[in-house]
Amino acid sequence: MSTRRIVIGITGASGAAYARRVIEHLTIAGVEVHLAVSALGRRLLLDELDLRVDGDALSNGRGHLVTVYPENDVGAKIASGSFLHDGMIIVPCSGNTLGAVASGVTGNLLQRAAAVTLKERRRLVLAYRESPMGHIDLVNMLRLSEAGAVLAPLAPGFYLLPQTVDDLVDFMAGKLLDLVGVEHALNTRWTGQTPKP
Ligand SMILES: Cc1cc2nc3c(=O)[nH]c(=O)nc-3n(C[C@H](O)[C@H](O)[C@H](O)COP(=O)(O)O)c2cc1C
Repeated sequence: MSTRRIVIGITGASGAAYARRVIEHLTIAGVEVHLAVSALGRRLLLDELDLRVDGDALSNGRGHLVTVYPENDVGAKIASGSFLHDGMIIVPCSGNTLGAVASGVTGNLLQRAAAVTLKERRRLVLAYRESPMGHIDLVNMLRLSEAGAVLAPLAPGFYLLPQTVDDLVDFMAGKLLDLVGVEHALNTRWTGQTPKP
């Protein structure tokens, strides 16, 4: 496998902008993106970004690197462990999908792709978004962490003095890219000193 591949899952949690930024920077890095979006994920993309699920729109014109799969096509190649890839990020990740993946119940392609990523011992990153966190979600997070997944809640830091919403989105997108080993030029690194405002 020469070209790197990352599977992205978008669920119906708030924060579609994070998904768009992650996909954009994966494609800037020349990474193939394999995209599964839940029904509620489609709704949130439309509600929050006025976007339909469209590879070009999500990658800022690099749609040739983005493959979009039908939501319920559990026969798609990302549903199989034989499809080699470099990891999966679910961003944003709802409590519903968190619970499904933690319990091993796979009700759609996104959940199946996540279960397969775990069983193949590949990197699975869940960018959970809900507040406050319910006890059941916390237990599910622990189960997933024990199974090898990385829990990366959408909680951007403020130590780089963000000025805009885009700065906050970039901060988290950069963290998620770091977790799958994809280089980026987003401003996420602490240099040892607070930047000058
Ligand atoms: C506008 C809107 C915002 C939502 N935000 C969240 C959220 O931030 N976190 C969450 O866990 N669920 C959120 N939900 C609820 C999920 O969409 C719902 O649990 C759904 O079943 C998730 O399905 P999915 O995991 O298949 O995408 C939201 C729903 C709507 C309509």
